[in-house]
Order: sequence, then structure tokens, then C-alpha cells
Amino acid sequence: MNNYYGWNVSLSDSQNYINSCKLIVKDDSAFLNFKSDQNYNVILEHVDQNLGNDYFNHILNFGKNLFDEFFEKFCENDSIGNPNLYLYHGKKISPTTLRYVKNCLDIIDLCSGIEIKKIVEVGGGYGGLCKTLSVLCEFEKYIQVDLPEAIKVQEKYLKFFPEVFSKLEFLPCNELKNIENVDLFISNYALSELNIESKIAYFDNVIKNSKIIYITYNSTIDYNLFVDMLKNHGFNFKSGYKDYGYHNNTVIAAKM
Ligand SMILES: C[S@@+](CC[C@H](N)C(=O)[O-])C[C@H]1O[C@@H](n2cnc3c(N)ncnc32)[C@H](O)[C@@H]1O
Repeated sequence: MNNYYGWNVSLSDSQNYINSCKLIVKDDSAFLNFKSDQNYNVILEHVDQNLGNDYFNHILNFGKNLFDEFFEKFCENDSIGNPNLYLYHGKKISPTTLRYVKNCLDIIDLCSGIEIKKIVEVGGGYGGLCKTLSVLCEFEKYIQVDLPEAIKVQEKYLKFFPEVFSKLEFLPCNELKNIENVDLFISNYALSELNIESKIAYFDNVIKNSKIIYITYNSTIDYNLFVDMLKNHGFNFKSGYKDYGYHNNTVIAAKM
């Protein structure tokens, strides 16, 4: 399982993650606590309490009203899988959901004034960003592209939110096909972790057919090459979106 489907993470991390995805799908008791599973946490649901503070402060600065108004809806993402919850100004929420809320504030700002009907997300993990974005964006179709094992976790998880589930399509990455007329392409700490061949495959099949893109890039590998591909295709970059964390993450936000 070397470089599993073009994913540039260590063999042991990808193997442990894939095995925990399989267990989460097969075993309901593992599913009950999957957000606290250490093997799963290497890849997902690992925002710590301090980093959560950075996201919380960002939200206070850029979206306090939306956060207060939709707090209960955002917390639905914490209702499944037993995540670690902490108090932020008296509000109990997981740091990972705070990060998804911050991502959503970026996305809402980036897309303001534009109708977003069709979204494609690559590497959506268990589907937390999709669930969180559904609170603020009335999309009609959301296509999740991920590893086959992760797709099964997403299906199991997002079924708990029937309104969102009814708008979803699932596409395992080994069945990647051309997807046309995409309003918004999202990849949160995922596309950046893939090898260049996989990045190009996503560019050719989805990104170049998208009007708006939001990518958090958590590595420097292929960064300049990838940015040049987007610019050469005609994407205009929007500045002003910053990220937090321990890896100099960059937010790529661009429009056709
Ligand atoms: C670091 S996680 C990011 C998860 C999620 N976007 C988040 O922000 O919480 C990387 C994601 O990339 C997915 N992934 C790995 N290889 C992939 C591939 N070839 N195509 C699509 N997704 C892939 C993993 O299954 C996982 O969901």
C-alpha cells in the first residue's frame, strides 16, 4: 500500500487510517467513538484546544453574529462520533468544528453574491465540512470524492443528517470522472497531500470546470507549480484569507 492512491503520507499513517475507516464502517461501537480514535486522529479530528482558540477568535472577529445565530446547528456536527469538546467563552464545541466554521466563513465570503448550486469536495474526511457548510449555504448537490474506504465513512456519518444526505453524491477516487459545471470546488488539507499526478487528474477532471475554488494547502510540495496551473487557466486569486496551525498553511481562494 505504498503511496495509497497518490496520497503522500507515511505508509503506516495511511494504513492505520484505512484500517480505522474500515472498522468505523463495520463496527457500530467503533463508530460511536471514532472521533477519539487515535489512529483516525493522526489524519482527522486533531485540532487541539489551543488551535481551537485561534479559530474561535477568528470567528469572533469575522462571523460572531452568524456563529451565535447558528451555534446549535454547528454543534450538530459534534453530536456523532464522540469528539473532544472544550468551552470557548462558555460555549461547548469541538476545535475541529470551530475550524470548519472558520472555513465556512471564508467560503461564504468568497462566494458572496454568487449562487452556489453544485459543490465538489475532494478529501472531505468524514464529511464535517459538508455538514457545517450546509448550515450556511443552500447547495443543491454536493459531490464527495475521497478514498473508497473514507467514502463509506462519509455515507455512514452523513446519513444521520437526512436533509444534507439527500443532496449528496459519493465518488470513490478510483472512479474519478469528468465533472462539469461546478460552482464551487473545495479541498481542505487534502489535495495538497496528493502527488502531482493526482493533483493534475483533479485539475483536469474537476478544478478547471469550477467557477470558484477554495483550497487549504498544508504543504509546500508542488505549491508553485499548482498555483501556476490555476493562474494559467485564468483563475484570479483572492487574498486576505489566512489560516492558523503549525504548518504554515495557505488558503488558495480563486475565481474564474
Ligand atoms: C488530512 S485529511 C483532510 C480531511 C478533511 N478535509 C478535513 O479538513 O478535516 C486528508 C483527506 O484526503 C483523503 N484522500 C487521500 N487520498 C485521496 C485521493 N487520492 N483522493 C481524494 N481524497 C483522498 C483522505 O481520505 C482524507 O479524507
